Amino acid sequence: MTSLSTNSLQIVSNSSEFTQNLGRIIGEQASDGDVVLLTGELGAGKTCLTQGIALGLGVEGYVRSPTFVLMTRHHGRLTLHHVDLYRMASAAEAWDLGLDEQLFGEGICVIEWADRASEIFPEDCLWIDLEYGQDSDGREIILETGVPIEESRFQPLLTLLAEKSATIS
Ligand SMILES: Nc1ncnc2c1ncn2[C@@H]1O[C@H](COP(=O)(O)OP(=O)(O)OP(=O)(O)O)[C@@H](O)[C@H]1O
Ligand SMILES: [Mg+2]
Repeated sequence: MTSLSTNSLQIVSNSSEFTQNLGRIIGEQASDGDVVLLTGELGAGKTCLTQGIALGLGVEGYVRSPTFVLMTRHHGRLTLHHVDLYRMASAAEAWDLGLDEQLFGEGICVIEWADRASEIFPEDCLWIDLEYGQDSDGREIILETGVPIEESRFQPLLTLLAEKSATIS
């Protein structure tokens, strides 16, 4: 079994299907109260990854970026709260819109553009940064726990992903 010694794991994606399949594993492993924070430029693949998480949670129907509505809720094995902070000017604004209910309520919370309000999240979150790679379909995906890996609720997930990443396609 691969053991992770650092709190970050880097995976190279070569297609949107790969990114979605990575998300699917995250959704399958998700447990109530998980908070997943997504960062990366416009079009990097945050919504694509979230669509995979939704599939892994058994959500039916297509998950769009909630840019204009800020947050949407989908029902699967667990409730998926999908939040997009792109238009948020400040953390306080996000808070005023009721983000705390999504963060500390039931279900799992996936937040695009989380760096817009990084100070308001619980410590033990999973940060996932998506970066453009050299060719148009390449992405570097860096997963990082908010607390040391051995204290993180995401340790089993990252260990599994470290093992499985070579077999995702
Ligand atoms: N390896 C890849 N992973 C994810 N998406 C990819 C990849 N290669 C190409 N793409 C394409 O990049 C686009 C990613 O769009 P997506 O809406 O997921 O980005 P986003 O990060 O949510 O953008 P926004 O900041 O506007 O919300 C899609 O058109 C997808 O098909
Ligand atoms: Mg998006």
